Amino acid sequence: MIPRKCAGPIHVPLSRRLVLQAGAAVTGLLNTPSAGAAGLSAHGRDHMNPVTHDIMQHDVDIRLTINGTSHHLAVDTRTTLLDLLREHLHLTGTKKGCDHGQCGACTVLLDGKRVLSCLSLAASHDDAQVITIEGLCKEGHLHPMQRAFVEHDGFQCGYCTPGQICSAIGMLREWKAGFPSMVTMERREHPPHLDPADLRERMAGNLCRCSAYPNIHAAIIDVARHST
Ligand code: FES
Ligand code: FES
Repeated sequence: MIPRKCAGPIHVPLSRRLVLQAGAAVTGLLNTPSAGAAGLSAHGRDHMNPVTHDIMQHDVDIRLTINGTSHHLAVDTRTTLLDLLREHLHLTGTKKGCDHGQCGACTVLLDGKRVLSCLSLAASHDDAQVITIEGLCKEGHLHPMQRAFVEHDGFQCGYCTPGQICSAIGMLREWKAGFPSMVTMERREHPPHLDPADLRERMAGNLCRCSAYPNIHAAIIDVARHST
């Protein structure tokens, strides 16, 4: 018979000193910059030891105009525009889906162009103009894209909707300016009309888990038709 060897449990003598050392090591690990990253609140930092607090200090002063209101902010250089909007300014209309640039839920308009706010560092956009879904409605009137989404029932759960609407507005600006897409392939100064294949390709960065795509696209085509 083949002998089966088993090493059995390893016994490490535990001393009070060893337990204290392990605890200190874990605490130190949790307080490293990579563990805290951009999401740590000012309140969280108040509880750090002074050395760690100094290491974590990466704040820069920036000015941003968000939805027409000027903000003078001290932000950690690692804070994304998405976290600045949601966690610091409580503009929670912009959604966090993947936080990795894959779903489009966090799309906002930055100096008129659509960007993924989860991939944009707030500190690198000093003096920029940001429009979020909250800033599209003017004097109680919905933006034409918002109205079209309502009229065409362009959503189900609505989680992707703020990103879809901001992206659609930015996309129509690109399209009108003649930006090529993988469908049109070439720059056109006067695009004749937005055909469905072109639209799908241009909006491919905005995912809808509810698959409301037919209604989303109908809403965008409607706005494109009335704005050319
Ligand atoms: S949250 Fe930014 S792309 Fe998904
Ligand atoms: S409406 Fe639910 S994810 Fe798009």
